[in-house]
Amino acid sequence: MSAHVIVGTEVAADIRAALKEEVAQLKEQGIHPGLAVILVGDDPASHSYVKGKEKGCEEVGIYSEVVRRDTSITEEELLNLVRGFNENPNIHGILVQLPLPKHISEKAVIDTISPAKDVDGFTPINVGNMMIGDECFLPCTPHGVIELIKRSGQEIAGKHAVVVGRSNIVGKPVSMLLLQENATVTIAHSRTKDLASITKQADILVVAVGRAGMIGPEHVRDGAIVIDVGVNRNEAGKLVGDVKFDEVKEVASYITPVPRGVGPMTITMLLKNTVESAKRLAN
Ligand code: GUN
Repeated sequence: MSAHVIVGTEVAADIRAALKEEVAQLKEQGIHPGLAVILVGDDPASHSYVKGKEKGCEEVGIYSEVVRRDTSITEEELLNLVRGFNENPNIHGILVQLPLPKHISEKAVIDTISPAKDVDGFTPINVGNMMIGDECFLPCTPHGVIELIKRSGQEIAGKHAVVVGRSNIVGKPVSMLLLQENATVTIAHSRTKDLASITKQADILVVAVGRAGMIGPEHVRDGAIVIDVGVNRNEAGKLVGDVKFDEVKEVASYITPVPRGVGPMTITMLLKNTVESAKRLAN
């Protein structure tokens, strides 16, 4: 039987509708959530992501400021932009779009963002607090993955979750969040031997590698929940995930598509964190 398709755009629309109401109420109390986004260079994918973030803010009523700079910006100039937003009372969330040009240290930039405004959840303070389950901003894509599973009505506790990929942005944090939801978690990566023997054990399979179609039906157990975080362009220029959707759909019980799966959830979780930050900073 064909899997139930978890449509991220629909889940995201529900969450955004609730956020829009919440923002309207906050404005009545004089709290106007604001997000600053800094984009360096001309990477088309980054420009497209930032446009989506701007549109998302507009949709729910968050004030947004987008600073676009070309690659001639120095690290110190970029750090000064971040420092300005750290001090700016109209801004509650700061996001520096990654990747950055090679002459700028991503670590130096992330370390400069105030943890209280780090709505990406990338600063060491937020990462550390996430590890110990303390108050923090959860990173947006991993948080979106957990929400998609929960809102599909599926239990996470007690399930065997296999995460393929170990990036700081997705693989590592999503593994930690699944663990906090009481899953038994296995992390697989590029050096894992006999990947299919590991992924076949998964009740929940999260794939975040960035290689088009690397997961086929031979990797998936009957009835597994499959969450595809990959965003790739195939030879025809079409957006595709890491999972062979049409084939895996016949084996899985639940599956996310690409596009319209995890992607819209990432921006939605960013909006949610920005609203949360505005509330925290107002108190
Ligand atoms: N580049 C790709 N994904 C992300 C993200 O979630 N946040 C930022 N800042 N940059 C990214």
